Amino acid sequence: MQHIFKNLNGKIKINHLYFEQLGQTAGCEGQPVLRIENRHCRAVIAYQGAQVLQFQRHNHAPLLWLSPLSNFTPKHAIRGGVPLCFPWFGKHPTESKVPSHGFARNMPWLLQSVTESEQDHTLIFTLKDNDETRSIWPHAFNAMLEIRLGELLNLDFSIVNVDQNPFDFTFAFHSYFAIEHIARTQILGLENAPFLDQLKPENGFSQMESTPIRINQETDRIYQCNRGNYKIVQDHLNQHILIQSSNCPNVIVWNPWVEKTSKLGDMSADSWQNMLCVESGRIMDVITLDVGQTINFHLTLSSV
Ligand code: BG6
Repeated sequence: MQHIFKNLNGKIKINHLYFEQLGQTAGCEGQPVLRIENRHCRAVIAYQGAQVLQFQRHNHAPLLWLSPLSNFTPKHAIRGGVPLCFPWFGKHPTESKVPSHGFARNMPWLLQSVTESEQDHTLIFTLKDNDETRSIWPHAFNAMLEIRLGELLNLDFSIVNVDQNPFDFTFAFHSYFAIEHIARTQILGLENAPFLDQLKPENGFSQMESTPIRINQETDRIYQCNRGNYKIVQDHLNQHILIQSSNCPNVIVWNPWVEKTSKLGDMSADSWQNMLCVESGRIMDVITLDVGQTINFHLTLSSV
């Protein structure tokens, strides 16, 4: 049996769904979030950025990493989960005053519907251009994120060009994974894929490695890879992480290590040990979307 709940922006409580406020303190109103507990998993999703903050399959360790020092002040990026980077990844190529990784992760999204079935919950969030987005990026768009929460975490992101002219953008799912320890973790699936080291960009995509990736220093790499199938293996654990993507020819591997972490105000000094970003997107070749066209990006994450 399926139940569909629509226009869920109030504080109400229905089957397996709980509307809460996260990070509320005397000086900060915090962030509205939705907590879901169903037969397969528990998850927390922020309205800001339609950002999945937590996902945990029952009897498994948490899949996603969320910094305990995250800033939950509205309009600030939340450090962890799966932020959406749109309409650009990283620093804007020409403007220095606009937000890093675009504005989508800093804006409140609209929860359009929640569908509950025996197997999972499906949430649909949307973001349309408004005065604030147009002051940063002068284009009319409709963005939608469909989040399916069951044994797996499925994310479908789409953008429709509702402007009078074509527009250019890039996009990434900026997934933060929770790991037992970075020194005992490897990433499989990026062997022999050329990468750009963002710490030494002058070398371009001239490097590749033939073995699974192990991280022992600050790492910030963009891979060119169309496999769409990656695995995070933890040496002493039976539990591994699977990443499957489509339409995402770039994989970004990021761990800030000791020094960079100490400069980020929303991470504790040793938290680089327990987090790893393996992000999926299309960030190297700018995407031109024609008037009326739609483009989709898909990501499935699971712990096995
Ligand atoms: C990664 C980038 O995706 O995000 C890094 O490759 C960046 O260069 C990191 O430092 C975090 O970005 P931010 O804006 O969330 O601090």
